[in-house]
Amino acid sequence: MVAFAAASKSLKNPKFQSSISPLFRFQSARTLLVQSVSESVKLQKLADSDSGIWEVNLERPSSKNAIGRDMLRGLRHTLESVNRDQTAKVLMISSSVPKVFCAGADLKERKTMSPSEVRDFVNSLRSTFSYLEALCIPTIAVIEGAALGGGLELALSCDLRICGENALLGLPETGLAIIPGAGGTQRLPRLVGKSTAKELIFTGRIVGGKDALSMGLVNHCVLAGEAHLKALETARLINQKGPVAIRMAKRAIDGGMEVDSGLVLEEECYEQIMHTKDRLEGLAAFAEKRKPNYIGR
Ligand code: COA
Repeated sequence: MVAFAAASKSLKNPKFQSSISPLFRFQSARTLLVQSVSESVKLQKLADSDSGIWEVNLERPSSKNAIGRDMLRGLRHTLESVNRDQTAKVLMISSSVPKVFCAGADLKERKTMSPSEVRDFVNSLRSTFSYLEALCIPTIAVIEGAALGGGLELALSCDLRICGENALLGLPETGLAIIPGAGGTQRLPRLVGKSTAKELIFTGRIVGGKDALSMGLVNHCVLAGEAHLKALETARLINQKGPVAIRMAKRAIDGGMEVDSGLVLEEECYEQIMHTKDRLEGLAAFAEKRKPNYIGR
């Protein structure tokens, strides 16, 4: 289903703008293309000058965005449509449920599952998060409120994490006598170091936004309610860069972290940029002191 949310003309009036929050003003001033992929996962494509910035919105308020089978299917389908579409340049993942990013796996549904169903579900969760991590475009998790268990693992699968001060991040699985099974044991130590990851996973300690920033778990911690705006600003900066360069930078960084031959891979990726028109356009725009106009090849 595709619907259009029209921008309100009155919101473009500067007098009116000064009385509303910056976040509301920003969102309302732009036309959004809204695509509903499932009940609880929505896909939005920003338009006009923000075209190329896409946003996945989690919306399952009754369970604080806990991920059950239906929501996982919706998330997977959404990510597949992002992957198929060459016009997507940056992806934000956020929640439209107040005070929560995602409460992790649906523990109520889990209670009804047989061991083999749990195994299938966790495997599917892990592979969906790996699919997200492997998307060739940059991804940003926008965290306001709780990102717990699978919710934090979802955020860890993104390239960047931006949170509000009120965020609560943690992997409480050991408290449920399980371990983080959707990549948390691998991605958390890579981000914050082995020792800190062990402490967080062994104790299930939940940290606030500022602590998350100091341990390198998030890229930015901003005032509560402003994470979306900060993420949008970041997405816009990325969106102005050469698309092939961004994809190759992501590929080189991710690939290089996994293999010792990172510099060889960097060279290989650089070679892919060498023959693009955009590389020359970047040089030309620099020389002419103007904004580059990238075409993605
Ligand atoms: N699975 C299923 N349902 C969940 C859920 C989860 N992971 N997390 C929250 N819910 C449900 C609650 O059971 C509650 O349902 P109810 O209205 O039928 O009682 C509803 O969502 C609201 O949750 P509540 O705890 O009342 O909201 P809150 O704002 O006080 O707290 C959280 C929000 C996310 C901090 C809290 O719900 C929480 O800690 N959830 C568990 C997170 C977790 O341990 N995840 C790891 C899974 S391995």
